[in-house]
Amino acid sequence: MGKMENEQGSCNSHTRCLSVFEDELSPLDDSYRRFVAESFEMICRPWFWYVPAAMGGKNHPWACRSVGGLVKHTKLAVWWAHRLFQLRGDVLGEQQQEIIAAVLLHDICKFEKPAGVEGANTDGRAVNCHGHWAAWAMWEAWAGVIPLIGRKSFGRISDAVAWHMGQWSEGAPVNCSQWDEFGKVVYEVVSMADYLAASKVGEKIKELAALNVAQLEGGEA
Ligand SMILES: [Fe+2]
Ligand SMILES: [Fe+2]
Repeated sequence: MGKMENEQGSCNSHTRCLSVFEDELSPLDDSYRRFVAESFEMICRPWFWYVPAAMGGKNHPWACRSVGGLVKHTKLAVWWAHRLFQLRGDVLGEQQQEIIAAVLLHDICKFEKPAGVEGANTDGRAVNCHGHWAAWAMWEAWAGVIPLIGRKSFGRISDAVAWHMGQWSEGAPVNCSQWDEFGKVVYEVVSMADYLAASKVGEKIKELAALNVAQLEGGEA
């Protein structure tokens, strides 16, 4: 990819998105790729590219809890979305594209309330309404413009982003009755991919790997 940074060391989020998420964006049609990159350009703040995915140690695998962790978490969630596509077998075409777009955008406002949203600032702490913040920022960014992907896809993507924390999203329990079957699947896969990506799978594997086989068989350690 081309040079990403200008003389000031700042970076254009459009270019950076296309470069950092090149692998994740490559299966998408041009309209979805452009939609994601243009959304990053309008919404993303510089902290997104270097912060850890979480400040505490309760959630997220170790690799996502240091510098650049939020980007790694986003990539991991896209990876999980593809695993879920394989598992289900019924998520195809446009639905896959909407899910990948939503996963790439889901934490874009994780640690900062967008300008114009009411309420106190959170001093960089994640709060359970950060999905709603991101959806709000998307509607603001695209106000008055019909995104290339069309109004319906945009609505489903922003809904899935808003509720990506599942039962922990602000306003839970999630009222899926407001969505048609297509939108419900988009929401379900996005929230599952995020949940799985935030799980400490690596730590669990380490714990299992350390189990003594003799103990498993009920014998002496
Ligand atoms: Fe999140
Ligand atoms: Fe997330």
